[in-house]
Amino acid sequence: MIQSDLDLFGSQPQRLASHTVLLPGFALGEVEALLDALRPVLRAAPFRHMHTPGGLRMAVALTNCGRLGWVSDARGYRYSPTDPVSGQPWPALPPVLLELAGKAARAAGFDDFVPDACLVNHYLPGTRLSLHQDRDEHDFGQPIVSVSLGLPAVFLLGGQQRSDRTQRVPLSHGDVLVWGGEDRLRFHGVLPIKPGVHPRMGERRINLTLRKAG
Ligand code: SIN
Ligand code: FE2
Repeated sequence: MIQSDLDLFGSQPQRLASHTVLLPGFALGEVEALLDALRPVLRAAPFRHMHTPGGLRMAVALTNCGRLGWVSDARGYRYSPTDPVSGQPWPALPPVLLELAGKAARAAGFDDFVPDACLVNHYLPGTRLSLHQDRDEHDFGQPIVSVSLGLPAVFLLGGQQRSDRTQRVPLSHGDVLVWGGEDRLRFHGVLPIKPGVHPRMGERRINLTLRKAG
């Protein structure tokens, strides 16, 4: 197989921990359909910077689609059925995203994953995401499916404690990372995005995390 075929189809799944699987290039064939589906989502619910409960402006800009969307403000972190900016329900989860999430979860060993929330994060060069746990969802028995688009990133995969050592996981355009089971509450974050221009996405990284929140 020549190199371009490897790039096109991605390489083999990589198990990073007992219930954490990197699926290199898994979304590559779906990128144009994903971007087409995201366009109306971003028109209805544009990226915005939220504030932590402590009042700090988050570096990552975000929005959501799905029945529930993740929000942060002085009242805390939570899922909301409405966009606090428009007062309207979040845009629906596009079918292409729902299907991709189910397929990726299955490939990583999690059957019957049906997300009801997709957090869309927007990173510029220099933007980082500090170590945190995803713990605002009701059922930690359901995995998280994370799709990377645009500029490459270094994902930090930590342990159950904030102070645990972290594994550095390079994430490229089209990669899908899935974590669940006993890894569901691992701390994780993203190192500052390096300056660059992605041929399809420009000077940004977009990450989609699909969750069963409700
Ligand atoms: C997240 O933890 O919500 C996003 C992770 C990422 O951007 O890769
Ligand atoms: Fe997270």
